[in-house]
Amino acid sequence: MTKAAVIFDLDGVIVSTDDCHYKAWKRLADEEGIYFDKEINHRLRGVSRMESLAIVLERANRPYTMEEQQALADRKNAYYRELIQELTPEHILPGVRPLLERLKQHGIKIAIGSSSKNSPLILERLGLADEFDAVVDGNAIKNSKPHPEVFLRAAEKLGVPAAQCVVVEDADAGVEAALAAGMRVIGVGTAASNERATWTVASLADLSWEDLAKFLAAV
Ligand code: G6P
Ligand code: MG
Repeated sequence: MTKAAVIFDLDGVIVSTDDCHYKAWKRLADEEGIYFDKEINHRLRGVSRMESLAIVLERANRPYTMEEQQALADRKNAYYRELIQELTPEHILPGVRPLLERLKQHGIKIAIGSSSKNSPLILERLGLADEFDAVVDGNAIKNSKPHPEVFLRAAEKLGVPAAQCVVVEDADAGVEAALAAGMRVIGVGTAASNERATWTVASLADLSWEDLAKFLAAV
């Protein structure tokens, strides 16, 4: 079997926290009288909290000082953390558990590569805190996706060359980050229509192990 490793994005791939992000940003934007909708929310996928705030504030009708921006980001995060406290292992997306088990059975290393500083809390709530060989998240990186840093750090931690890593992503920014890291990328969910992805599937539940094994062996 191949020496490939698989690096998973977290939000939108392992668990559907994107709706929690949307609700938290929407609550903040409504309180501030800033227009915000699902289309704008889509642009926040894979993007760090402060960069996401900058996108939200594009619609603001006054400038916000750095202190105010920090306070807004903290407020959004408090709303978001309230929502993710409700997560349980039942929220793990379909197809994820069987896939992780298969990969482990075949000795393929697995990692998380996420821009989220809340990754440790989310993984703990899902009961997945000890499942991955490496976790690199928003706390460990300077540049968020589409910069390749998060995936390169994950490959380094796994001890696997970047060219042998395959990334699973739901965000366009994440697809670009993986390609910039010299990795192949499987686009799922909202990235299933991303033409830059090496391979796309609507959901990990649709991924046949035989096809994936061939894909990994070709790395
Ligand atoms: C993930 C999500 C983004 C979010 C980012 C930072 O990449 O897809 O929507 O903005 O993490 O999340 P955080 O939990 O650190 O605010
Ligand atoms: Mg994502």
